[in-house]
Amino acid sequence: MDLTTFLNLYSPPFLLSTIFIILLTKLFFPKSTKNLPPGPPCLPVIGNLHQVGAKPHVSMANFAREHGPLMSLHLGNQLLVVASSPEAAKEILKTQDQLLSARIVPMAFKHAQLLPYSLVWSDCDQTWKNLRALCRTEIFSPKAIEAQSRLRNEKISQLVDFLRKKQGEVIDIEDVVFTTLLNTMSSIILGKDVLLLNDEHGTCDRLKESIHKSIDYSGRIIDFGSFYPMLERFDLHGIRRGNVKHLNIVFDHWKEIIEERRSQVNSSSWSSEKAQSFLDRLLENGFSNNQINEFITELFLAGTNTTTSTVTWAMSELVRHQEVMSRIEEEVKKEINSDEITSFQLSKLTYLQAFIKESFRLHPAVPFLIPHRAGETCEVMNYTIPKNAKIIVNVWAMGQDPNIWDEPLSFKPERFMESKLDFKGQNFELIPFGSGRRMCPGLPSGARSVELILASLIREFDWELPNGEDPLKLDMNGKFGIALKREVPLKLIFKQKKAY
Ligand code: HEM
Repeated sequence: MDLTTFLNLYSPPFLLSTIFIILLTKLFFPKSTKNLPPGPPCLPVIGNLHQVGAKPHVSMANFAREHGPLMSLHLGNQLLVVASSPEAAKEILKTQDQLLSARIVPMAFKHAQLLPYSLVWSDCDQTWKNLRALCRTEIFSPKAIEAQSRLRNEKISQLVDFLRKKQGEVIDIEDVVFTTLLNTMSSIILGKDVLLLNDEHGTCDRLKESIHKSIDYSGRIIDFGSFYPMLERFDLHGIRRGNVKHLNIVFDHWKEIIEERRSQVNSSSWSSEKAQSFLDRLLENGFSNNQINEFITELFLAGTNTTTSTVTWAMSELVRHQEVMSRIEEEVKKEINSDEITSFQLSKLTYLQAFIKESFRLHPAVPFLIPHRAGETCEVMNYTIPKNAKIIVNVWAMGQDPNIWDEPLSFKPERFMESKLDFKGQNFELIPFGSGRRMCPGLPSGARSVELILASLIREFDWELPNGEDPLKLDMNGKFGIALKREVPLKLIFKQKKAY
């Protein structure tokens, strides 16, 4: 090295830029860990951010084909581990369930006042255990689900009556199903309806909009605050601010109901037999308004969105496959002979059950499950998953995988007719509700609603696309979010069936 070169190396511009690069690398470049799962090469600072795109479920499925069923990517500073096969899912959700079931709190919910009362975003701590136990005994136990039958049927009857008056009109199926489900849940949780099916004056628009907005904010994955924790406090995309604004609108709607019930529960004449809803139980257990707001709103957000999306995708497949619709219709005609549909009758609808499984396979409502976080460093499939890595299971990719399913892109409910495969978390090739300790606690409620709504809509009406549109050309693209919804809303027309 000659003297000029040596002096250049120690010149202020050179030193400054070296320090700058080192700082950048330390701040923005992920710490290297040995033995990470394989993955696509990444760029400095941004990692693989530029490769994620607007449809991450599709881009991650493509990467998995190249890099295998367990892979790692870097989203800025965040290490992401992606499982895309039943074996990898089982390792994460069963073998290492205890170590890999913490949560990554999305920016939308990083709110000091709400987080301590969260079920969905808590790690598996005591709060989480208590809230899950309360849900399990009070609203999702077999006894509770049976007790809710009358109410569920009542809400479906209201939907059917509403639709009867709309014959010949084009309806947005997602909207009416969402309203029906939210009212079903609010009747169970709050003891009353909160939306109107026939809302000509838009009385409920504000509540509906805020619920949709909050769901949207929770699923935003492009968020620099998560990729670079040092930027978190700036909330650059306005996600936290936006969500808090809409959550407050939602909480305002519960306020009066909570106060009214609190005064009942606190009155001297109160006894537990008078409890009318889940809210009464929470009040009896001494829950504060903040605790109630956070907990019940999470149930509404988690429950309505997923179930609506499942029914909407199923209806899309029905209009595309009239032969499937006819077969379900036959089955419903044979097995259901009363006005009210009972759980026993639903259990006899084996083709409908197969149809729902096939729908879950191709259109899982929550394509990545809700992201998990490694609470501790551990080994999965001989690779190291470092503490705090974000972990997703690409359920959507598994549903499309030719290594798991014959002709995966064909919609064939028959594939489930002779099979014992179920979606209750034991068969890792079909886990739309997840599996393990974080598995959806609302499965019994969600699955029952899906069956009941589909059986009722098929029983009452003949469905088709408006304006003679070709069903085979129906746009089946999904719009990514915490739930995978249809990109283009499903608009349908229907005729009432002749009485049989
Ligand atoms: C078809 C309907 C539904 C589907 C497909 C579905 C799916 C899921 C999935 C995939 C998860 C994440 C599992 C994980 O993180 O590993 C989840 C979590 C959750 N679901 Fe559901 N769900 C549905 C209905 C419901 C209903 C009706 C409710 C409540 C009324 C509900 C409440 C929850 C809650 C509270 C969690 C968070 C559990 C936790 O973090 O421990 N879900 N659901």
